[in-house]
Amino acid sequence: MKVLVTGGLGFIGSHTVVELQNKGFEVVIIDNLSNSSIEVLDGITTITGVKPHFEKIDLREKSEVVRFFETHKDIAGVIHFAASKAVGESVKEPLMYYENNINTLVYVLQELSKLEKQNFIFSSSCTVYGQADELPITENAPVKPAESPYGNTKQIGEEIIRDTCKINSQLKSIALRYFNPIGAHPSAEIGELPIGVPQNLVPYITQTAIGIREQLSVFGGDYDTPDGTCIRDYIHVVDLAKAHVVALERLMENKNLSNYEVFNLGTGKGSSVLEAIKSFDKVSGKKLKYQIVGRREGDVTAAYADTTKANDVLGWKTKLTLDDAMASAWKWEQKIRNK
Ligand code: UD1
Repeated sequence: MKVLVTGGLGFIGSHTVVELQNKGFEVVIIDNLSNSSIEVLDGITTITGVKPHFEKIDLREKSEVVRFFETHKDIAGVIHFAASKAVGESVKEPLMYYENNINTLVYVLQELSKLEKQNFIFSSSCTVYGQADELPITENAPVKPAESPYGNTKQIGEEIIRDTCKINSQLKSIALRYFNPIGAHPSAEIGELPIGVPQNLVPYITQTAIGIREQLSVFGGDYDTPDGTCIRDYIHVVDLAKAHVVALERLMENKNLSNYEVFNLGTGKGSSVLEAIKSFDKVSGKKLKYQIVGRREGDVTAAYADTTKANDVLGWKTKLTLDDAMASAWKWEQKIRNK
């Protein structure tokens, strides 16, 4: 069964390609290499023993999307990761974000709608909930006005898919709302490759520990949480990747209850920034240098998933812990810096 993975050389995409290949799917990757490296292809090949088919395509080029789908009519499923994901950058360049995250989604859906098999998995985010009124967050929690153009592209993306599913019963789609994906493959063959100064917590931690950054700034120590720092649901990227395979199989086997479904992907456990640092210190044997500074604009106090729907309906559950994720992220950081 041939599966298209857009953004398949990115952080979550590459881990998902590995899990798909481990289950025997034939994978075709599209990536424009804007925030990824061609070497990721070698990492995937080393882990699975199979080199996925790769096409360097920028999905903003509609004619390229049309050409691709015309030559791959036998695609049995699409997992659409390709998108820009830096919150701060999206505030500065909203049109670039809308073009890259929305136009590409529309083009892919237009061409997918011409195929015999129309199974579609969309990368969404818990950012759609904003600061939820109740914790843990269920899929029924209201979508709050987006804090950034990036967050808005995830909300609009979900709406585009939902509206298209309403008029196209052949199209079956699942939107996966990720909480905070972290970690790397245990082999350290693939992992996160942030360009420039990392905006996310875990790459900042590992880069500080390896000596690239002076110290970690902990954004805010005066939140209404037990230790005053923000709480998030950190999920190991390998667990997250596996959820994509389960979701795709659900559509392929017609187990879905409607042709547009939404699932939260998290562990269900919230951890504070200080707890994350503690976990890193424990698995690395290091003592991370950090300082508590002012809050970062746009951060919510706490977000963690209610995993009931993902566990019971999707039939997927995380297996790995925060310590596992930190250990793999640290192994990966050491590997790339020694290269
Ligand atoms: C961020 C995005 C979110 C996106 C997600 C996945 C923001 C406001 N939100 O989520 O929309 O879906 O990444 O890419 O950017 N922290 C520090 N010091 C740092 C970095 C982070 O203390 O140097 C703290 C943050 O305040 C937060 C936690 O660590 O409490 C996690 O931050 P981060 O990894 O950036 O993820 P989110 O902000 O949850």
